[in-house]
Amino acid sequence: MNPDRLSATTDGYMSEHNNGNSVLRSEEWFGPKDLEGFLHRSGLKAMGYGENEFKGKPVIGIANSWSELTHCNSHLRELAQHVKRGVAAAGGFALEFPTISLGEFFLAPTSMLLRNLMSMDVEEMIRAAPLDGVVLLAGCDKTTPAMMMGALSADVPAIVVTGGPQLKGNWRGQDLGSCTDCRRYWTELRAGRITQEEYDEMEAAIYRSPGYCMVMGTASSMGGIAETIGMSLPGGGSIPGADSRRKTHSEQAGRAIVELVNKGITPSDVVTPESIDNAIRFLLAVGGSTNAIIHLIAIAGRVGIDLPLSHFDDLSKTTPMILNLKPSGEYLMEDLFYAGGVEAILARISPLLNLDALTVTGKTLGENIADATVTNDRVIRTIENPLFSEGGIVALTGSLAPDGAVIKHTAASPELLTHTGRAVVFEDYHDLEARIDSDDLDVTVDDVLVLKNTGPIGGPGMPESGMLPLPKKLLQQGHRDMVRISDARMSGTSFGTVVLHVTPESAVGGPLSLVENGDLISLDTPNGRLDLLVDEAELERRRAAWKAPEPQYSRGYGAMYSEHVLQADGGCDFDFLRGKTPVKLRV
Ligand code: FES
Repeated sequence: MNPDRLSATTDGYMSEHNNGNSVLRSEEWFGPKDLEGFLHRSGLKAMGYGENEFKGKPVIGIANSWSELTHCNSHLRELAQHVKRGVAAAGGFALEFPTISLGEFFLAPTSMLLRNLMSMDVEEMIRAAPLDGVVLLAGCDKTTPAMMMGALSADVPAIVVTGGPQLKGNWRGQDLGSCTDCRRYWTELRAGRITQEEYDEMEAAIYRSPGYCMVMGTASSMGGIAETIGMSLPGGGSIPGADSRRKTHSEQAGRAIVELVNKGITPSDVVTPESIDNAIRFLLAVGGSTNAIIHLIAIAGRVGIDLPLSHFDDLSKTTPMILNLKPSGEYLMEDLFYAGGVEAILARISPLLNLDALTVTGKTLGENIADATVTNDRVIRTIENPLFSEGGIVALTGSLAPDGAVIKHTAASPELLTHTGRAVVFEDYHDLEARIDSDDLDVTVDDVLVLKNTGPIGGPGMPESGMLPLPKKLLQQGHRDMVRISDARMSGTSFGTVVLHVTPESAVGGPLSLVENGDLISLDTPNGRLDLLVDEAELERRRAAWKAPEPQYSRGYGAMYSEHVLQADGGCDFDFLRGKTPVKLRV
């Protein structure tokens, strides 16, 4: 931006804007009567916009992660039109722009490799473009945290609108939840309990509407977190994608963002230690995705807040899990919406929340949920009658995970939560695929499956490989769970006695890299411990012999990723992206 621009005539913009006493950032582009102002205005006119449509109005970006490579976000172009309606009705001027989009199903090796790239895309587009505020259209797993991270670092007024969850799947009269039931029936297929034809039928029956996975997986967790932390309007975390009220919600977000610009409320006014604690309470009360821990740490890091894993554990001890949704419970997101939605959950746990936290409605969280009621106690339990007396996630530390690991104990087998077993080690995912179903694999159900080299660097991108498949021969014996340990993540829709995010990861020489077949591993979930029962002298011998894997990238984004990505306890953000560089909102 040419500094001379600030002294150029702004042709009445200042007096016409609602605030009257300050100039919008967008006016640096569209106000001055000089060559640059001419070019900027003519660029809008080239798209058919008349001066009366934009002159003196707040310019609202609609950052859209619509993509045909992201089926969960395939309806976001339509929702963008409803956001535009709201922006126009409130006196703003909306311009939609694309961001990269991260779909869980199609991206290899994993969408998580690109989450930080998407956050950079969002941040830098906000910074570079003539925007006074932004509505962030997201949905599929990584798109919501990436949008939030980018908007927090740019720190212009921002509202998250997700595409909402899908309707329930249904196959032969049974409700199906993606992808909890894809995995459950895949296991049954491998065990020979259902036919390939039956499994094929489910393909069309499970995903039947726009939106994200309709269990309390990562996308649902992040949608609820966006609402709880105060960056979405009420209803944002639970209205189904196919429900007409999702369109109304989008229109309301369009109105609200103009108000937010007028009030000068930015994301860092909303995302504070208090609202982050609210988000953690929500995550724990709903038995949400372990991935959300990583995303929350990264989100907090963008506003300079350190969020140690132990803090999740501390809050977990006093947060009952009250939501009865798959994968930890029985119901699906559509049922949650009918039961009162995210607001009703928050109302139930309100004694645990910081109700004074500011939200994008311009009101407090307490004001937003003042009228919320629960209409189905089977879906949303009471604090006095929870599914579990503590939160859904336990942080572990110990000699196998000095910097932490996590287990979603509510989705695990209770009898395995305290277990000591013999390690059966796979060096990476290819090794796992090659040997897991081999008749020669020396394994019993009392063993502990260990997968190495699936962390942030080793994966690369920390893929969702953590729910290791059970060996076929154990499935055929009727077993459905055993202890599994890795430095990977797992899908929020997954389940089982699965220890994840072992940190430091094996690819950087963490203790996981030293585990050998036959070593004893002790999991003590009630006491938050994960230990490798091998004496220190032997470990030292193995450490001296250990060789780091060859780097997977020599250039490009992958090389930058490998050099700068933080471990899971740093939210897998890039070291240079933590913090914010706020965009100047007014001149
Ligand atoms: Fe997009 Fe599950 S595949 S949320």
